[in-house]
Amino acid sequence: MPARQRTAAAPRPKFRAETAEGLTFFHDYAPPTENFRQDAIEGLSATPKTISPKYFYDEIGSQLFDQICETKEYYPTRTEIALLDDISDEIAELAGEETTVVEFGSGSSVKIRRLLESLKDPAHYVALDISKEHLKKSAQKIAHLFPDVSVGAICADFTAEMPLPSTESLKSPNGRRLGFLPGSTIGNFQPKDAEDFLGNAHSLLEPGGAFLIGVDLKKDPDILNDAYNDATGVTAKFNLNLLRRMKRELNADLDPDGFEHLAYYNEKAGRIEMHLKSCGAQDIRIGDRRFSFDDGETIHTENSYKYHVDEFTALAEKAGFKKGRIWTDSNELFSVHFLESHG
Ligand code: AVI
Repeated sequence: MPARQRTAAAPRPKFRAETAEGLTFFHDYAPPTENFRQDAIEGLSATPKTISPKYFYDEIGSQLFDQICETKEYYPTRTEIALLDDISDEIAELAGEETTVVEFGSGSSVKIRRLLESLKDPAHYVALDISKEHLKKSAQKIAHLFPDVSVGAICADFTAEMPLPSTESLKSPNGRRLGFLPGSTIGNFQPKDAEDFLGNAHSLLEPGGAFLIGVDLKKDPDILNDAYNDATGVTAKFNLNLLRRMKRELNADLDPDGFEHLAYYNEKAGRIEMHLKSCGAQDIRIGDRRFSFDDGETIHTENSYKYHVDEFTALAEKAGFKKGRIWTDSNELFSVHFLESHG
């Protein structure tokens, strides 16, 4: 996923300030539909054809992702939750009191709930996510469950630009800022983009901030292949929803049933690749643009990089973080890193 470095000179993206019951603020930087159209046209014109995984997460896609997390094959979610439970006291100790927690991509509220429950008097929680309604609902749920925590939300594509929350919303006079990116979302970035994203997060969390991040580990390819090809077919639906979304939002002329889900571990690149594979020769039309597919040709929709602990530590160090505590589950499936900023 593309992550551009935000520089001091970069214009702040426009946003709409909305009110949402229970939240101290709700800032909407949601990218306009036009971006989706442009990106889809650009991606389908490229060789090989590609569309960014950020477009998976409309309302339906976010719900399908929650269902993926419940499948028996998709081990990352349950493994990370169990690990976070095991290490919650250590995390609370490292984070200290009155933290401001900034969660990037606040997918499901389960993990943040556990984190806020275990921290010592957390002061603020800021949720960032691209899926507006999903974000609003989960932030409101957190505000309801934690009346002593001030909760704000920012709807934004945090992979493309870092909409810095106002200093006011991140004010944490006594505690540290703690970034939180669970679920191995970092694996969906190209490694160089992951480094840029972490560099931006590092600046946002300073001074003295920390970052708690879940990272999926390299492992037996059979386990990985199963995790992205669940028997119930939810991952396939999630992948194919991208085409259905193009129909709904871009009025694209295409046959979603003419494509099939393809996911496999590319061992050399150290990543799961997801594709939509054309069953037969066919066209997709968006407005007056036509994109032709050969039989078997694919649209590359997602990479999910897997890291050895040392590989990820090296990447985080390049972004300016210091190596902190690292935990893995007993089966060595998943890791959680507590990264310290130098400041
Ligand atoms: C959100 N992300 C970390 C998931 C992953 O495992 O890369 C997205 C996903 N794609 C297919 N299954 C889950």
